[in-house]
Amino acid sequence: MPPTSTGQQEPATDHQDGAENGRAKQRANEAQEPKEKIEGKVYKDYLKLDSLLNNVDMMSFRHGNPVHDEHLFIITHQTYELWFRQIIWELDSVRAILNVPIVSEEDMLTILQRMNRTASIWKTAVEQFAILETMTPLDFMEFRCYLAPGSGFQSLQFRIIENKMGQKMENRVNANSIIESFRDEDSQRQLRQSLEEPSLCDLLIKWLERTPGLEEKGFNFPARYTEAVNKYLANERENMEMETDPEKRKGLEAEVKKQRDTFASVLDEKSYNEKIRLKERRLSYKAFMGALMVNCYSETPRFHLPQQLLTILMDIDSLVTKWRYNHVILVQRMLGSKTGTGGTSGYMYLRSTVSDRYKVFLDLFNVSSFIIPRDYIPELTIEMQSALHSTRLSGTTLGYRMHRFSEPSLKPLSF
Ligand code: HEM
Repeated sequence: MPPTSTGQQEPATDHQDGAENGRAKQRANEAQEPKEKIEGKVYKDYLKLDSLLNNVDMMSFRHGNPVHDEHLFIITHQTYELWFRQIIWELDSVRAILNVPIVSEEDMLTILQRMNRTASIWKTAVEQFAILETMTPLDFMEFRCYLAPGSGFQSLQFRIIENKMGQKMENRVNANSIIESFRDEDSQRQLRQSLEEPSLCDLLIKWLERTPGLEEKGFNFPARYTEAVNKYLANERENMEMETDPEKRKGLEAEVKKQRDTFASVLDEKSYNEKIRLKERRLSYKAFMGALMVNCYSETPRFHLPQQLLTILMDIDSLVTKWRYNHVILVQRMLGSKTGTGGTSGYMYLRSTVSDRYKVFLDLFNVSSFIIPRDYIPELTIEMQSALHSTRLSGTTLGYRMHRFSEPSLKPLSF
């Protein structure tokens, strides 16, 4: 593995063969290869502890003004960078699995396990700030003078995670300074590459667009959903008209109007696309309908795992927001209103990043606005019912490996 500018090894890119990630294939390969005698390594050599643990270079000690807590400050940042590396490792593998024309259903569990693991790491990362909070602002002041111009703002791995998740540059407060903060060629190359590759969000959009049941000539969920929403809104209107108390009626009228306006933005593809143009929506119309459909029919077996994936992605978005929040609280505690060593306003800048524009999967949260009561959800046709309940293909006894989430051409189950 090539070393990066930070002296760390760059995460290997052997996730590229995506769908071939199956464990069965791996086991088959292992069985064929003759086993060579492997020389074991003792603990410290296997983990390269000599280099890992000898990387705490305290500037306060170098300058003859030793500050005990600088050790904690460095270890905390290094620990975060190690977790960031693991997150990138998981993200790369999941992006590779999703980056194929058709995602095999048997890979869904691997995707979920890895995204779940990513969420667990973020949970740990959110909590970890508590350890650094044991340092006092006075102690921090003692060695802060040695840090400038260094800042977490220059964490390349943090930016790579943002980019690989699908955080848009244009949504960031300090987009220009972010790019400028990386001066060495290798960091710039890695940053550029992470922007050019399809992000997790891009791949999710493609995957959702293939949700079975969206096809115009098949179940046509968008058309059925539109009909259901119209019935629901008509019913709400009837209820409002039956209200005799003028005050209550006024409130209901406003509510019905609000609902009508909200639903209008998804019932008509053109209005929806206008929202995309105005950057108020990220998912394509089809992908949004796919997410809505998975939510509406999440009880059907074949939508269990897709529904879980959508949930975990929202969990991760929430956890990154919590990370930003805990970080900014720590910064306020340590710096008050002082400017950052990375050149930003510090607290005020960081506070502006704890917002919806930094949520990559905001549209998934917004799906809830378009959920209608169960009674109105369009009934599945017999064909769709058997398709969404079955893990076998008609005409085959075992369709497991062939079975694909979202393959419209497979008849008669229309996947
Ligand atoms: C005493 C503790 C800390 C202080 C005072 C602090 C301060 C700051 C400040 C002021 C900024 C804004 C950029 C600037 O002008 O420098 C920043 C950004 C950042 N810090 Fe920290 N930080 C601390 C701990 C940490 C830790 C433990 C991490 C873990 C890696 C971290 C990661 C980051 C990241 C990734 C950013 C960029 C955030 C963004 O632009 O969205 N910081 N920090």
